[in-house]
Amino acid sequence: MGNIILTGDRPTGKLHIGHYVGSLKRRVELQNSGDFEKMFIMVADAQALTDNFSNPAKVRENITEVALDYLACGIDPSKATIFLQSYVAELTELTFYYMNLVTLARLERNPTVKNEIKQKAFGESIPVGFLNYPISQTADITAFKANVVPVGEDQLPMIEQAREIVRSFNNLYGETLVEPKAVLPENKSCLRLPGTDGMAKMSKSLGNCIYLADSADEIKRKVMSMYTDPNHIQVSDPGNTSNNPTFIYLSAFANDGHFQRYLPDYTNLDEMKAHYERGGLGDMKVKRFLNNVLQETLEPIRTRREELAKDIPAVWDMLREGSHKAKETAAATLTEVKNAMKINYFD
Ligand code: TRP
Repeated sequence: MGNIILTGDRPTGKLHIGHYVGSLKRRVELQNSGDFEKMFIMVADAQALTDNFSNPAKVRENITEVALDYLACGIDPSKATIFLQSYVAELTELTFYYMNLVTLARLERNPTVKNEIKQKAFGESIPVGFLNYPISQTADITAFKANVVPVGEDQLPMIEQAREIVRSFNNLYGETLVEPKAVLPENKSCLRLPGTDGMAKMSKSLGNCIYLADSADEIKRKVMSMYTDPNHIQVSDPGNTSNNPTFIYLSAFANDGHFQRYLPDYTNLDEMKAHYERGGLGDMKVKRFLNNVLQETLEPIRTRREELAKDIPAVWDMLREGSHKAKETAAATLTEVKNAMKINYFD
């Protein structure tokens, strides 16, 4: 049997270039390699509500944005099933049974959830739904028997927790569920792209993202005002490339062809980095090159996105179709789960 791939994103904003190099690009490559049995991509709207329950309109609006981003990047609905989490009610039912297999202490130990709780300043008032989302994420993955989950680094604790739940379930009720494996980007610079301001992560609330939907002018403005090495004052000063977001972005995006086209002074990024590190390469030149690289990469995505955005009902038709298909698969797994637990009383 081939791989079953599943992954998804919370629709809380448009997707940015961190999502692109961290996961989207890999999904498209996997999709086009044809080396899988089934591929599912989920718009995790129900999960997005766990920390946006007071603002469902935000989630609703961003479902369209995320779906557009998927299609614009090259996810092809004839190869990958794109679906809406909330439509697949079976996921909720699976979650309910999995909840018995997880302790409160284990949920509270999940490092990603811990971090998010701190950021969101929930204090002592942590909503149960939020704390519970790693269990619901296990339902998302196992409902489709996914064994391959391409995600960003911050999702590793979720996959670990899913594996534990699968093992507990199979031990208790017999081999039913499949243990998933996370697939991270091979290029280390793609694991977590810093913000344009040098902060550790791109985040909408920090206003330090470059979005896939950004115009050419916005990209240029954001790149030209990026944070670099604060100690690289004169062009002649030696510079740091490892904590410098401009070079991290270049490591994630630039290839040798970009050098031939836009900066033939160097044959590759290593040469350019060496020059910056010994001194004599100015930030402006680095930024102009980065701008060219990003413009070349993002232009076709943006153009496709603008084209697709002219027919939003077609995007929702695609989502509806994918959601119906996903529901069938999840329903079949739910039946197996209930059979394994011997709680399928009427069958
Ligand atoms: N937690 C993921 C995010 O924040 C979204 C997600 C929900 C997901 N369910 C998933 C990712 C299942 C992979 C597999 O973006």
